[in-house]
Amino acid sequence: MNQQGSYQINTISSCVEAEISRLKAQVELFWDKEFKHYIEFGLSDGMLIAELGSGPGFVTEKILGRLPNTKITAIEIDPFLADYARKYLSQKKFSQVEVLQKSIMQTGLAENFFDFAVIRLVLEHLPDPVNAVREVFRILKPGGKAIFVDNDFEMHIMTYPNILELRELYDAYCRSRYAEGGNPKIGRELPNILKRGGFSKVDFEIINAHSEIVCEEIFFKSEGIGIPVKLVQDGFLSSKSLGKISMEWRNMLKDENHSILRQLYIGIGEKLV
Ligand SMILES: C[S@@+](CC[C@H](N)C(=O)[O-])C[C@H]1O[C@@H](n2cnc3c(N)ncnc32)[C@H](O)[C@@H]1O
Repeated sequence: MNQQGSYQINTISSCVEAEISRLKAQVELFWDKEFKHYIEFGLSDGMLIAELGSGPGFVTEKILGRLPNTKITAIEIDPFLADYARKYLSQKKFSQVEVLQKSIMQTGLAENFFDFAVIRLVLEHLPDPVNAVREVFRILKPGGKAIFVDNDFEMHIMTYPNILELRELYDAYCRSRYAEGGNPKIGRELPNILKRGGFSKVDFEIINAHSEIVCEEIFFKSEGIGIPVKLVQDGFLSSKSLGKISMEWRNMLKDENHSILRQLYIGIGEKLV
C-alpha cells in the first residue's frame, strides 16, 4: 500500500492549476453551511487552531476572515502546497498564521496546546486515519475539540434528471483512491474512527449543497474535468464512458427543472478534561 496516501496534487488531476481552482470552489460550495457547524460546535474568535492538511490555504483564509483574532497553525505535507498557502495568505495580509510543512501523522507540535482542530478532506486520503486522529487528539488541550470533514463516494453528486453513468465515474474514482491507500467511502466511518482515535462526545452530521440554493457555477468549478480525465489517462475509466457522462451531464442541464446535489460528512469530537 502507498504510505503517501491518495492525494498528490501533481497526479490526482490532469492539471495542477485546475486542481487548485477546484479546491477553492469546493470550499465556496459548502462554506456558509459548513462554518455554521464549526461555530455550533464551539469554534470562536481568539482560539488557537490547528488546521491539518491545509492545502493551498483556502479554508485557512475563510476562518481567518470570519474570526480575525484566532491564530492558526496550518500543517501541510506537500512542499508546493505549503509554499502556495504561505504566499497566498500573506498576499491576503493575514499575519496570524504559520504554515508548516509536516505530516498529520507526526506533527512535532506540542501536546495539549490547541483549542480547536480542523481536518478537511484529509482522512479519506490517508492509509492510517486512526493514527492521524490520535495525533490530532494529542495536540489538543483537554476540553479541545476537532472537526473532521470528508466525502463518502457511495453518495456523491446526485442529479435530477438522474445520470446513471455517474456511478461508473465514482466507482473508477474509488478504485483509483483505494489503489493509492486512501478510503473514499470513509464518511460513514467517521464516528467510529474518532472514538478509536481517543475522542469523546462524538457527533456526526451530513451537510449538503443544492443547485437551487448555491450558484450552479460553483458546482461546475468544484467538480471540473481534471480528475475524470486523469482517471481515463490512468486506465480506471474508459474514454467512451467519460464521453457518455459528459453527454448525459449536458442533457441533464437542458432540463428546465434540473437539480444538482452533493454532500459532505462531518465528524466532531472532544478531548475530555
Ligand atoms: C483534498 S486536499 C484538501 C485541502 C484543504 N483541507 C481543503 O479542504 O481545501 C487534501 C490535502 O491533504 C494534504 N495531505 C495529504 N496527506 C497528508 C499528511 N499525511 N499530512 C498533512 N497533509 C496531508 C494534501 O497534500 C492536500 O493538501
